Amino acid sequence: MKVTIDGQEIEVAPGTTILQAARMIGGESVPPAMCYYSKLKGTGGKCRCCLVDVTKGSEADPRPMPKLVASCVTGCQDGMEVASTSSARVKEARKSVTEFLLINHPLDCPICDQAGECDLQNLSFEHGKSETRFIEEKRTFAPENIGDKIQLHMNRCILCQRCVKVAEELTDDRVHGVLNRGDHAQISTYIAAAIENDFSGNMIDVCPVGALTDKTFRFKSRVWFNKPFNAHRTCTTPGCCGKTTLWMFGNEIQRVTARKDEYHEVEGFICNTCRFDKKEVADWTIEGPRKFEKDSVINQNNYTRKLDKVVINTEKGILEGRDIDRKKISMAKIPLDNNK
Ligand code: SF4
Ligand code: FES
Repeated sequence: MKVTIDGQEIEVAPGTTILQAARMIGGESVPPAMCYYSKLKGTGGKCRCCLVDVTKGSEADPRPMPKLVASCVTGCQDGMEVASTSSARVKEARKSVTEFLLINHPLDCPICDQAGECDLQNLSFEHGKSETRFIEEKRTFAPENIGDKIQLHMNRCILCQRCVKVAEELTDDRVHGVLNRGDHAQISTYIAAAIENDFSGNMIDVCPVGALTDKTFRFKSRVWFNKPFNAHRTCTTPGCCGKTTLWMFGNEIQRVTARKDEYHEVEGFICNTCRFDKKEVADWTIEGPRKFEKDSVINQNNYTRKLDKVVINTEKGILEGRDIDRKKISMAKIPLDNNK
């Protein structure tokens, strides 16, 4: 089947969605996705970020679709023509969806662990408005512990339900989900039942915002001060790929995550032992510096560009005593050739 997205034609297999076809083309035409996750079955159709304009339905029925459609759950038809970034209507809709997602989302990026690698931050950067029109009070919830290593900040949740799918697919028993409906909908355990499962930590990786955070890393460092390295170990947990990214500050492993691709999706799921318990360099075979795939705040000043040293334009007095830290942040000693 042939499908054209923003004027670029591609051949796809029957059953391919518009979003998947756009990802095959790559570049600017790829719609943003906050709930779809290619590694998890049944995701998509919740956030409406991926709306596109189908200007020609198919060769057999060339009528345009009257409304914008969610590209992650709409299948391609032979001869279909789609406008993504080339459509003003789509751009306007993405702005509105972003505004809607931010209605209840707190603007606490300065203290949120996800800042720098947050999909909502990136979405707002690209499609957000600089001012809010929302004058009502935002929903607020008390932070909740989901097991002893994961914390849920429901205030930040956008109800994408990816974490629910992780629990359904990777764990034996799902003990959390969406409780209530409409404005009262929230992710919660039933109730405060801990999620004790070898793979529950993957919920942190799939969460597009900072609603689910790693308690072993919370408030330790801003992510952009850490150097990410690819590493692996021989893990005996069935189903764990053992391939991770270590986020290091000097020689300390600050946190361990799964490796993520250009769409910020994990390449392989990892178990809780690798994620939470292996924080010594000796536990890992370190392969080399990891390149950032996804364009994000975290990419700014990263070591894919050659820097002799990190220059922080702050008053001298404030930096006094920070020499050791500055050395740890500096990427000067990283072999750039390993970072292709
Ligand atoms: S906690 Fe995160 S992954 Fe779960 S529904 Fe909310 S935003 Fe999505
Ligand atoms: S990514 Fe398509 S609706 Fe969320």
